[in-house]
Amino acid sequence: MTDFPLRDGELHCEEVPLARLVEAHGTPLYVYSQAALLRHYRAFDAAFGRVPHLVCFAMKANDHLAILRLLAREGAGFDVVSGGELWKALRAGADPKKIVFSGVGKTEAELEAAIGHGILMINVESPEELEAVERVAARLGRRAPVALRVNPDVDPKTHPYISTGLKKSKFGVDIAEAVTHYRRARELPHVEPVGVDCHIGSQLTETSPFVDALARVRALVGKLAEEGLGGELKLVDLGGGLGIRYQDETPPDPAAYAASLSAGLEGLPLRVVLEPGRFIVGNAGALVTRVVYRKTTATKRFVIVDAAMNDLVRPALYGSYQAIQPVRPRGRATIVADVVGPVCESGDFLAKDRELEEPEAGDLLAVMSAGAYGYVMASNYNSRPRPAAVLVDGARAELIKERETLEDLVRGERIPPHLR
Ligand code: LLP
Repeated sequence: MTDFPLRDGELHCEEVPLARLVEAHGTPLYVYSQAALLRHYRAFDAAFGRVPHLVCFAMKANDHLAILRLLAREGAGFDVVSGGELWKALRAGADPKKIVFSGVGKTEAELEAAIGHGILMINVESPEELEAVERVAARLGRRAPVALRVNPDVDPKTHPYISTGLKKSKFGVDIAEAVTHYRRARELPHVEPVGVDCHIGSQLTETSPFVDALARVRALVGKLAEEGLGGELKLVDLGGGLGIRYQDETPPDPAAYAASLSAGLEGLPLRVVLEPGRFIVGNAGALVTRVVYRKTTATKRFVIVDAAMNDLVRPALYGSYQAIQPVRPRGRATIVADVVGPVCESGDFLAKDRELEEPEAGDLLAVMSAGAYGYVMASNYNSRPRPAAVLVDGARAELIKERETLEDLVRGERIPPHLR
């Protein structure tokens, strides 16, 4: 099933021609398919059907209010990693009882908001954070539900920047020391250890690292029970990380992913929390951009477009591959070119040495698989207003984020009196 079909010689999102969206909203433009979002969420949720579970969308991947609302209405919970994300999730209508809070550097103010709203679980990542949770919960007269995020030391075999479960990583606590931390958690009067958490990395294309991590987490759960520390445990959070196809990867589908975990979950009396981000939104979004110029140097050809690393940083930051398609293919011969933006850095590219149908200035290109870690990582670098975003539902298209204006570029800025 394709959510961005080529129909009558034009790339569409569902039933809406991308060119029509550009006429209304300009470029660069993020476009999301609601059908894709729902299908991905439902497939993921259904894959764990028989297991008591909660899907907490990792909103770091995409935090448009409209998309959060759509998923919340489907029953999704949310994995948040900042006070800002918590606030946005609640603003979108999320049920606090379905929110988990991860991250190595939660401040006391963020913990206070989380505990105050009565979220499902705080995934604690260090002994010092555990003490901070105790302090804040005591101040609020509450008992804070926590999991220790353990680092199972498995190699997810993905990009080093998005591997998080290795011993050398900043995330979680060493699984070998987890029992000590749970013992401490049990002693703290305002902390309630309700779960065990891990997340090993992102864009995983094999199931074996997930299976290994679960085996280690399960061994820990057994050990906690032996030590009499397992009594209050209700949840096991396996994080996110299921990969998607950007180019020619063949990641497991949710059913295969869930099936690979089923043996490890068998007989475990805990509700499973899952934190998928990319799988839900990645292939549900595209970034539409317009060709500004073409340019040929002695050694290379360039296609210069109006989207840049500030709009979609993944290629620049991770060297990642994003497919690029002409919005109105003309059947021309292909060229090999770098597709680059206007930002003043050599690292500003959307594709390197890419074979694509030779475009002309003014043509539209769609950068595919841009729904996850696209808009959320956009910045104003080079004083570039961030793009608009549209959500398509069948033949209907709604603007869900306005394009930033020039005034937005200076919002909150002040010229001090001595410079006036
Ligand atoms: N849970 C935790 C604790 C995480 O740190 C992450 C992602 C997720 C869940 C969701 O992982 P997903 O299902 O999306 O793979 N900007 C990078 C990805 C960074 C991922 C960070 N953590 C990229 O564009 O590839």
